[in-house]
Amino acid sequence: MTPHVRWLSRFSRSVAGQRNRLFWGCGAAAALTVILLSCTTTRTIIAPPSIPGAEFVGSEACDTCHAEITRDFKTATHARLTARGENAKSMGCESCHGPGSKHVEAGGGRGTIVNPLRDPATCFQCHLEIRAQFQLPHHHPVLENKMNCIDCHNPHKGNAIKGGDTSLQQKIKGGGFAFLSPNETCMQCHTAQRGPFVFEHDAVREGCITCHSPHGSVNQRMLVARNATLCFKCHFQQQQVDGRIFIGDSDHTNRLPQGTCWSAGCHEAVHGSNVNGHLRY
Ligand code: HEC
Ligand code: HEC
Ligand code: HEC
Ligand code: HEC
Ligand code: HEC
Ligand code: HEC
Ligand code: HEC
Repeated sequence: MTPHVRWLSRFSRSVAGQRNRLFWGCGAAAALTVILLSCTTTRTIIAPPSIPGAEFVGSEACDTCHAEITRDFKTATHARLTARGENAKSMGCESCHGPGSKHVEAGGGRGTIVNPLRDPATCFQCHLEIRAQFQLPHHHPVLENKMNCIDCHNPHKGNAIKGGDTSLQQKIKGGGFAFLSPNETCMQCHTAQRGPFVFEHDAVREGCITCHSPHGSVNQRMLVARNATLCFKCHFQQQQVDGRIFIGDSDHTNRLPQGTCWSAGCHEAVHGSNVNGHLRY
């Protein structure tokens, strides 16, 4: 990879009382991909996972035995995370897996290194706000260990958000799962929403996350809004002179007070319908 050309942002980090500058290299990555990341993030990083007695050895040490992962990692979102000086070593593979000296000395194997698949704590060191999202009343059961971050995120290659790639070039570089659209990721488990439907709801094409918060929400069904506001984002509400409310050319004046748009008898088939063009059932 080309050296980092330009640093657009920085964030600080405190490890063992020491403050170090960390840089989020947007310049170098631009060579690879269209950048979607906000380059102005400020974030405090708590210490990487610790393994008693182990020290950081740097990502090159992993190359010998995990050649494929190390090679692909260049395309990964997290590969853009770099540090200067002494701590540079700890910013690659070991930022998620913990210091690797014991693992390397042992010639690999389990139990000598952190595998975040079994515990999202590794991710929360840097993404603390995400844990709070999973603690909301309606959430994906990640903290309950029924699923994990990797069901929707790529740690080792391509965009960290599965299907989040926007350019064909990056899709090819990311390979594999990166070919999935973001909706595909969801539909692997939620097959009922896949369709095909005779009457599609165009909103679903916009993406599941236009209506659902993927990590968690205060609203039932992890909805981003709990009432008609959800639908008014796209469906214009027209107030006529006589005080009547029209949505989609249809008089909704007496309907709106009856409940949410998707409650019984209205647009229950909100993801798409095989029988009713107005998505009633
Ligand atoms: C963003 C955090 C993160 C970074 C950075 C990271 N990994 Fe991982 N790694 C994970 C997660 C999560 C898993 C478990 C999921 C999986 O197996 O893909 C994992 C699993 C692994 C495994 C076990 C795979 C298996 O099939 O059992 C190996 C080996 C590994 N990583 C090596 C590396 C190497 C080498 C690097 C650096 C080039 C690296 N990782 C960087 C998060 C990370
Ligand atoms: C001398 C070879 C060797 C080196 C060097 C090496 N590994 Fe491993 N690693 C292995 C072997 C062998 C396994 C076990 C694979 C298995 O059991 O499927 C393994 C497993 C892992 C696992 C999965 C552990 C688990 O409990 O599921 C991770 C994560 C991992 N390595 C990361 C790394 C990282 C990060 C580095 C660099 C700091 C590294 N490895 C360096 C050989 C090595
Ligand atoms: C050493 C710190 C660190 C660790 C550990 C870490 N991340 Fe990140 N991650 C970052 C930074 C920094 C960014 C980009 C800045 C931002 O979030 O705006 C990022 C970005 C992301 C993104 C968003 C990418 C995008 O395109 O918006 C996802 C998703 C993500 N990380 C998931 C994970 C998961 C899952 C794990 C655990 C397997 C993990 N991260 C571990 C620091 C980390
Ligand atoms: C059910 C799928 C799913 C699971 C499970 C999941 N995520 Fe996400 N995550 C997403 C989607 C989809 C986005 C993109 C949201 C957007 O673009 O608004 C995202 C965005 C992110 C981001 C970047 C945006 C932000 O809010 O800062 C981070 C960081 C992140 N996830 C971390 C995690 C971590 C850590 C875990 C595990 C504890 C996790 N996610 C589990 C689907 C998931
Ligand atoms: C790995 C499988 C998996 C993936 C991928 C996945 N989900 Fe889920 N989803 C679940 C599980 C498990 C539940 C919890 C079901 C329960 O609690 O009964 C759930 C619950 C939900 C619910 C609430 C359902 C209810 O009855 O309250 C919604 C909405 C949802 N997911 C949307 C999404 C979206 C949007 C995505 C993609 C960003 C996604 N899911 C990706 C497994 C998955
Ligand atoms: C236009 C907004 C919208 C979009 C887009 C959307 N949903 Fe939903 N979804 C809803 C509403 C509203 C409910 C609640 C329905 C109810 O409670 O009867 C819901 C409910 C769900 C449920 C719970 C089970 C059910 O059918 O009631 C799951 C799972 C789900 N959605 C997954 C998805 C997935 C996966 C996608 C993307 C393929 C998606 N949704 C796109 C609005 C949407
Ligand atoms: C992301 C934008 C978006 C959101 C959010 C959205 N829709 Fe739609 N919806 C569309 C588009 C685009 C169409 C197709 C064009 C049209 O008929 O207006 C459509 C069509 C419909 C139709 C069929 C039109 C007809 O003739 O009856 C119904 C019913 C509908 N939406 C209900 C809802 C409900 C209920 C919600 C809230 C849960 C919702 N929509 C949220 C974009 C959206």
